Amino acid sequence: MNRNNSGTLLDKSIDETKQGDVFFQEQLAKKESNKHFYIESYGCQMNFSDSEIVASILGEMGYAATKDMHQSDLILINTCSIREKAEDTVRKRLRVFDKVKEQKPGTLVGVLGCMAERLKTKLLEQERLVDLVIGPDAYRSLPQLVADASGGEKGVNVLLSREETYADINPVRLNSNGVTAFISIMRGCNNMCSFCIVPFTRGRERSREPFSIVAEATELFNKGYREVTLLGQNVDSYLWENPETKETVNFAQLLDLTAKIHPDLRVRFSTSHPKDITDEVLHTMASRENICNYIHLPVQSGNSRVLDLMNRTYDRDWYMERVESIYRIIPDCAISSDMIAGFCTETEEEHQDTLSMMEFAKYSMSYMFFYSERPGTLAARKYEDDIPLDIKKRRLNEIIRLQNQISFKHNQNDIGKTFRVLIEGDSKKSDQDFKGRNSQNKMIIFPKSEGLKTGMYCNVKVTDATSATLKGTLVV
Ligand code: SAH
Ligand code: SF4
Ligand code: F3S
Repeated sequence: MNRNNSGTLLDKSIDETKQGDVFFQEQLAKKESNKHFYIESYGCQMNFSDSEIVASILGEMGYAATKDMHQSDLILINTCSIREKAEDTVRKRLRVFDKVKEQKPGTLVGVLGCMAERLKTKLLEQERLVDLVIGPDAYRSLPQLVADASGGEKGVNVLLSREETYADINPVRLNSNGVTAFISIMRGCNNMCSFCIVPFTRGRERSREPFSIVAEATELFNKGYREVTLLGQNVDSYLWENPETKETVNFAQLLDLTAKIHPDLRVRFSTSHPKDITDEVLHTMASRENICNYIHLPVQSGNSRVLDLMNRTYDRDWYMERVESIYRIIPDCAISSDMIAGFCTETEEEHQDTLSMMEFAKYSMSYMFFYSERPGTLAARKYEDDIPLDIKKRRLNEIIRLQNQISFKHNQNDIGKTFRVLIEGDSKKSDQDFKGRNSQNKMIIFPKSEGLKTGMYCNVKVTDATSATLKGTLVV
């Protein structure tokens, strides 16, 4: 789930290296501190969110952030295991860190996140200069593990937890635009999609206490943030039970609680699972202007037999019914998706079903991949990865080409419409233009105007569109 929100990733979807980013936050630099950490993050938005928790814990330990790895005492890489390519990228980065360490002995190198969890102590055998291996539920043990590693011992903790949600840790916003932020509302995943490594690297699903979520969102709003994205692998199964009263809060209720903080605080969420998204959630979205009309609803495949092999627990008809309900209850909602090409035994006809599903659902954008077998998953154990790579890639290219066409049409359809846009900053290409998103999560570029600044809302009329971006002018 690469949620870096840089618009559509159609051209980049098979290139995990694009998901890396270097985090840096000057405010974190404590004047008295002379120790520095450097962190890179890969993978889904949950990993980026975890790096902000790690930064907070390191801040307490007296470490300041640096964006220069040569200046750091501690180099961390927060890793992803979702596809083989993601792991290859991490190993390449570790070669780079090795060199830094050779130049500056004493620098500690730590592997965090999903690859740490998947490979555990094997990582220490495979990667000669790694000092720390810390799984996603073990970040609270950083102080002890860093102390151990400084003393020359390897620091390893890959214990998964049934309770850890880091609810009380106030994340340090890294690389932030000061307007949009991500909030983890749950961890882990209880689904066992047969292709997926996440349940093994992230453990059992657990929901974070809702009041800490609302408090975090309120604090962000008070600091000037205007959009929060509630994160989980399957947000629709969010369920928190008050241990004393046994009262429960479900995802629709959590959305409503967050949206009530302020009408100017936009609320987004990701990822929705087609089997769990309820009409209650859709009606909550429709009833509140500030809950964005955008749903990421990964289909994976448009064919019922393949979906069954994938253990997605819905079929083609079920998915279509969910899409119809979304468009019925929220007519201007945009839907996006994830697709996997060339899953075990997928035939050409079954691949065609994915293409026809894309036409049916009219996705505004998609993240598209070819199947990459992951050791230990149900699919790896039960099915043969029998689709040759060239066929996987050809099918993927067909999917990407079609999505480009659908996105182009989707965007062309917006020409002439006026949207409320939250300004996120300067456009990448020109500091004469702003960039911002509409409720449907589409990026719109428009000329700046006096009195407007990042973090403000304005109305923009769309004048032009490509498959990736909208262009527009201000409507006063
Ligand atoms: N929780 C989200 C998905 C998280 S992983 C959901 O259920 O939709 C993000 C995406 O990576 C998945 O939706 C899937 O499309 C893709 N993916 C996961 N495992 C994969 C694998 N083994 N090979 C190729 N793509 C995979
Ligand atoms: Fe993986 Fe499925 Fe869980 Fe998503 S819902 S994280 S694809 S097991
Ligand atoms: Fe995310 Fe990758 Fe882990 S997608 S949950 S960082 S395997």
